[in-house]
Amino acid sequence: MRVDRYDYAAQFGGDIDDLVADIKSMLLRGDYILGDEVARFESEFATSLGVRFAIGLNSGTDALVLALRTLGVGPGDEVITHANTFHATVAAIVHAGASPVLVDADEASYLIDVDQVAAAITARTRVVIPVHLFGKPTRMGPLLDVARDRAIHVIEDAAQAHGASLGGNAVGSIGELGCFSFHPSKNLAAAGDGGAVVTDDERFDRTLRIQRNLGQARQNEHVLLGMNSKLDAIQARILRHKLSRLNDWVAARNDVAARYRNLLAGLPISWQRVDAGEVHAYHLFQIRSAHRDELLAHLTALGVDAVTRYPTPIHLQAPFERFGWRRGQFPVAERLTSQLLCLPIRPGMTDAETEYVADGVRSFFAGRPQHEHGRPGIAT
Ligand SMILES: Cc1ncc(COP(=O)(O)O)c(C=O)c1O
Repeated sequence: MRVDRYDYAAQFGGDIDDLVADIKSMLLRGDYILGDEVARFESEFATSLGVRFAIGLNSGTDALVLALRTLGVGPGDEVITHANTFHATVAAIVHAGASPVLVDADEASYLIDVDQVAAAITARTRVVIPVHLFGKPTRMGPLLDVARDRAIHVIEDAAQAHGASLGGNAVGSIGELGCFSFHPSKNLAAAGDGGAVVTDDERFDRTLRIQRNLGQARQNEHVLLGMNSKLDAIQARILRHKLSRLNDWVAARNDVAARYRNLLAGLPISWQRVDAGEVHAYHLFQIRSAHRDELLAHLTALGVDAVTRYPTPIHLQAPFERFGWRRGQFPVAERLTSQLLCLPIRPGMTDAETEYVADGVRSFFAGRPQHEHGRPGIAT
């Protein structure tokens, strides 16, 4: 048996004909840049999140860069995020010209340790970027309190968290600006790159529309130094086709996660804690094991498409060497990056598939003496 992480065909459902016909007529009409499809997607995406504005961009990385620029962040400013995020969060801070400041992760949530954020704030801190990593919402309440007290902006990196919510509020809509990616791997996926920033603030909306269009307020009227970063019209049409299914997909991902938790209970592994009042979007289902690499090899040999996300914490990545971070400086991030393993999770995964994966994990531990199982942090 093979258990894959993606089923691209299933994301289109059975009714792909209207979509293909629309794309064909867009191709023939030359409907490529912005226009009705992008505007419609922006409006539908904003409505789905309960925000006033969504601005479609070229990628989630650009969303972060342009959100930072919209807040006027640049050289001399510091931006706080966490040491175990995906590379793009920190690359975006550097591309905006600011200095990244890292906070360690929390053992149970695998997200930024909110209680350590206040200590990382200096007179130069302008923004904190919580990352709803793997689809789990960050504890936004205490983070917003700290930010409000110190007049710091909050940008949510929700690139992995379409469909996640906290107390009924969609992630991405809680901070001042929320950034999304529509990379093909994401819960809401384009057939190529794409991204968006969402906000309730009319001034940010206007600036972002200018930012994404080479600084043009009107044609040939360049009022600021912008980027060329627009969501493609054809991608917008594809995203509209999928958006209405997102909630069902997140529910299906939650069902798979619940099955995994049941089937894997009692093994010497742990997973992200799920807190009251939150909807985890389960972009990834991460298990934590002291024997990650051997377990990964075991599952791969069984035909399970398990992967590591992400094996190297930010502070040990070569492009960030100039920031002078040291091994040992963010110990929880280092442990997580050496112990986390993603099991396949996608809507439409059958019980037989989840059972096969779980049996694979069980068989790995059954073959090892108890005393070698290791203690993979906090179990749930
Ligand atoms: C946490 C996080 N931030 C930012 C990004 C950047 O998104 P993109 O690949 O669309 O540039 C991604 C995804 O790739 C991500 O996972």
